[in-house]
Amino acid sequence: MRPVVITGATGTLGRAFERLCAERHLACHVTSRAELDIADPESVERALERLEPWLVINTAGYVRVDAAGGDRERCHRENSLGPQTLATACAAHDVSLVTFSSDLVFDGFKLAPYDEDDTPAPLGVYGQTKHEAEQRVLDHHPGALVVRTSAFFGPWDEHNFVTCSLRTLARGEEVRVPAELIVSPTYVPDLVHATSISRSTASPASGTSRMSAQRHGPTWRGRPLALQDTHRVS
Ligand SMILES: NC(=O)c1ccc[n+]([C@@H]2O[C@H](COP(=O)([O-])OP(=O)(O)OC[C@H]3O[C@@H](n4cnc5c(N)ncnc54)[C@H](OP(=O)(O)O)[C@@H]3O)[C@@H](O)[C@H]2O)c1
Repeated sequence: MRPVVITGATGTLGRAFERLCAERHLACHVTSRAELDIADPESVERALERLEPWLVINTAGYVRVDAAGGDRERCHRENSLGPQTLATACAAHDVSLVTFSSDLVFDGFKLAPYDEDDTPAPLGVYGQTKHEAEQRVLDHHPGALVVRTSAFFGPWDEHNFVTCSLRTLARGEEVRVPAELIVSPTYVPDLVHATSISRSTASPASGTSRMSAQRHGPTWRGRPLALQDTHRVS
């Protein structure tokens, strides 16, 4: 059976998709950077020829939003060039592609939930590279699915905002976050299930899709208070 190839073996989302494939009895191959560097056309070509996937799920990328301004070249390579390289190769091999973008393609001034049809206006380097990737991927592979998502949390990694906040609260310490920040957090298990990978449908949907856990929520500042309440941390 041709496998699903998942890039980003060491990442939160890559590992979550690996679990999903195991749960759905889908053959999958999770690639590390050494095995498949998404921004290196030769590396991508070699991997596609060798692994012969029917679907590539690209979870690889540069995620350090606050560091991106001082690390432009790397952020651009991993977030724009990488997805474009994958899209070009997947289109040439007739392989479906899913890749992940971010809510940070928007400037946040709308003060209401964003929809797929809203016009991107990224404010920082990270958002700019994600916006560029969205355009490049759909130009090179019109059948690809680009998922805009935000602020992961979930039970399968130790470093997300929720688990870090709970650890801090359990130590009896304060969680300090910007008061004005409003984010729709995304529960990683829901995200991977919502991406609807099923061999019977041959390929996931295509185009740009927004997936986050809820449309309205507390500010980042309110979230530790909500956690304190629901998890009974005193
Ligand atoms: N985390 C969030 O809250 C969030 C929110 C919105 C969107 N997203 C997007 O969702 C995707 C997955 O995020 P995540 O949190 O799972 O990321 P993560 O945990 O930081 O993992 C990123 C993965 O990408 C790999 N990678 C980076 N550059 C690569 C390259 N050139 N070739 C191959 N592999 C490469 C890394 O490998 P190494 O270990 O070798 O560096 C790592 O395995 C990213 O595109 C991210 O921008 C994430």
